[in-house]
Amino acid sequence: MCPACGGSLDLSVSKTEAEEIIEGQLRCTACASSFPIIRGIPRFADPGAVESDKQATAENFGWQWRHFTQEDQRYAEQLLGWIAPVTPEFFRDKVVLEGGCGKGRHTQLAAEWGAREVIGIDLSEAVETAFPATRSLPNAHIIQADIYHLPLARKFDYAFSVGVLHHLPNPRQGFLSLASKVKPGGHLSAWIYGAENNEWITRFVNPVRERVTSRINPRLLVQLSKIPAAMIFLATKTVYGPLNRSARGTAIARHLFYNDYLKSIAGFGWREQHTIVFDHLVAPTAFYISRDEFADWWREIGVDDPDINWHNQNSWRGFGRIP
Ligand SMILES: C[S@@+](CC[C@H](N)C(=O)[O-])C[C@H]1O[C@@H](n2cnc3c(N)ncnc32)[C@H](O)[C@@H]1O
Ligand SMILES: [Zn+2]
Repeated sequence: MCPACGGSLDLSVSKTEAEEIIEGQLRCTACASSFPIIRGIPRFADPGAVESDKQATAENFGWQWRHFTQEDQRYAEQLLGWIAPVTPEFFRDKVVLEGGCGKGRHTQLAAEWGAREVIGIDLSEAVETAFPATRSLPNAHIIQADIYHLPLARKFDYAFSVGVLHHLPNPRQGFLSLASKVKPGGHLSAWIYGAENNEWITRFVNPVRERVTSRINPRLLVQLSKIPAAMIFLATKTVYGPLNRSARGTAIARHLFYNDYLKSIAGFGWREQHTIVFDHLVAPTAFYISRDEFADWWREIGVDDPDINWHNQNSWRGFGRIP
């Protein structure tokens, strides 16, 4: 539906390739708004024309997901960690929405796990990677849109968002907007950075991220971020990974700094670990949110008993049924 007025949209098609509409227009039947379909993607937002606090975020992540386009076998396990207790079977026959799909890796998994339809939305140019990544899946669709102004009706059985809300200028509003698209009785998952246990980041890393790394040319950041990424790679491959794999080692590893998180990424290769470090440093906006604050978001949408869990002892994942 029209993100401006909620009216329905008329489609005109000017180019198709197999089942895909490659070029066309979506015109609102109620107001004068019109939205182009370009390179297979309906464009409801222009990342260059949104408010400045969203623009910088979209620009940096757009660059990131056009550069780090690799796929990894471990994405499925990682996603299931972020959306637990949801399992692959949960997706079967559901109409699913992903808020902030990045390069489309999770939209792809949702489609492969049997979602009836899954729509991945993202504000940034990441959609240029997400569309080809999901193109062969007839039940996966990519839309360029702002999470605050979704061109979608309240028709979803399940919506999820991982690693997105904390990068919004107002995370709670983004959460409310996503939740507003879930049908009564449907479900919602969100994963966000936690305030708890991350004081070392908020005190020492954030000032560098805010003043330097999110502002420099991303090409330079690719090179600079190899320094912390190499330190983490060495630590995970020689200490955290091996210790956590043995019964006796686990007892020792428990006492290591940030063990749960570093253990969780220890299986990834260099490219993925470098992506993770780059991802943290490139974001102009990042909120670290407490459990109490997160629980309050759920209360606001009427979910009094959300399943909120501490993930890797550094972040919060929530799951709940919309009343
Ligand atoms: C850290 S990435 C996570 C991407 C994906 N969820 C994943 O885990 O691979 C954050 C994503 O949020 C998107 N994003 C940021 N602000 C947004 C907004 N206002 N509306 C929609 N997407 C947004 C960015 O473009 C980026 O792709
Ligand atoms: Zn309209």
